Amino acid sequence: MNQSTRAIKSPPQPDNGRGFDVARLIAQRALQIDASGIRKVFDLAGTLKDPINLSIGQPDFDVPEPIKQRAIEAIREGKNRYTPTQGIGALLEPLRRQVIDRTGWKDPGVLILSGTSAGIMLAMFATLDPGDEVLLLDPYFVMYQHLPRLIGAIPVPVDCYPDFRLHPERIEAAVTRRTKMLVLCSPNNPTGIAFTATELRAAADLARRHRLLVLSDEIYDAFCYQPHESIAPLLPEQCVLLKGYSKTYAMTGWRLGYAAGPKAIVEQMTKLQQYTFVCAPSPAQYAALELVHGHRVDMSGQIDAYRRKRDRVAEGLRERFEIQPPGGAFYFFPKAPGKESATEFVARAIANNLLIIPGSVFSRRDTHFRLSYATSDAMLEKGIALLNRLADG
Ligand SMILES: Cc1ncc(COP(=O)(O)O)c(C=O)c1O
Repeated sequence: MNQSTRAIKSPPQPDNGRGFDVARLIAQRALQIDASGIRKVFDLAGTLKDPINLSIGQPDFDVPEPIKQRAIEAIREGKNRYTPTQGIGALLEPLRRQVIDRTGWKDPGVLILSGTSAGIMLAMFATLDPGDEVLLLDPYFVMYQHLPRLIGAIPVPVDCYPDFRLHPERIEAAVTRRTKMLVLCSPNNPTGIAFTATELRAAADLARRHRLLVLSDEIYDAFCYQPHESIAPLLPEQCVLLKGYSKTYAMTGWRLGYAAGPKAIVEQMTKLQQYTFVCAPSPAQYAALELVHGHRVDMSGQIDAYRRKRDRVAEGLRERFEIQPPGGAFYFFPKAPGKESATEFVARAIANNLLIIPGSVFSRRDTHFRLSYATSDAMLEKGIALLNRLADG
């Protein structure tokens, strides 16, 4: 047998002789992220028949027609290529003016993103070094704890139970020499809590004293059932503001958001975007022109409907659940009733065809669960009735 025939018939043997051990190729960075909690819920969702699904983190209405039309026109007109890294000028400039109007910032940098998620990632990658500490208010949106770890930075949860308000003294107690960033999300996922101007003033004061960068995730700003307050105007030099289209216009699959902040930081984020996401999806950017130029798309009907759903859930769960009435977003974060852990309660809910998410996915604690009311009134009524039955044992 000559050399070449042997090479074809017997390929190089993998080192363990049983097959190629692909697990050896996986980086510690990826392995350290445990997504099992939320994955279990979604795996179970796939096995249930017509579940009462109160686990969804996106609106139940569809993208408004004028935005769809703009996207279709953009695709037909050939707006299908890369855009400039920072986004198309026609959208960027009105957004910049909007940011200046709303924050009073003088000359902010603005970057159009592939979803707010990209902004969280780019802001962290542009500002955090290994060993830097990032303060998160616990419970927190899942990404906030994983992304710092990818950099070797350290997420530091600040417990905000049982009222989920912003407690400046607890945040301050967690500050060390290595603290660089404070992440805020208002209205909040998973609690629905919206911070007041007084709370945000206290946070801004603390950020100034300790020279922290505040990452302010305001993706749920449209779903605010009280006036929306932002920390951004208070911190012109040390805040990165993140806004999104996913929730407000139900465009979760279109991947569009934007960041604004000090030019020096946004320039670094733009450079990182150039070598990662490249640009936000072109048709989605053109479609968003409808929101800055065209006759503004009115979402007040949808927002009012969500306010009513919030009120209905609050009333429906009040007797048997400990709840903090949310000021925004479309979530409640009730305590599991009795002595059960959240995981145990959620397992029982799922066994009864109800999908909710255990609080341990968003928290160091396993005591609460997230319920989304972004669903039909009929589904909500079924969910409320079943939750009350489960609470009764
Ligand atoms: C608090 C928060 N921030 C960011 C995101 C990500 O949104 P996007 O679709 O804009 O990436 C979500 C989505 O659930 C969220 O809840």
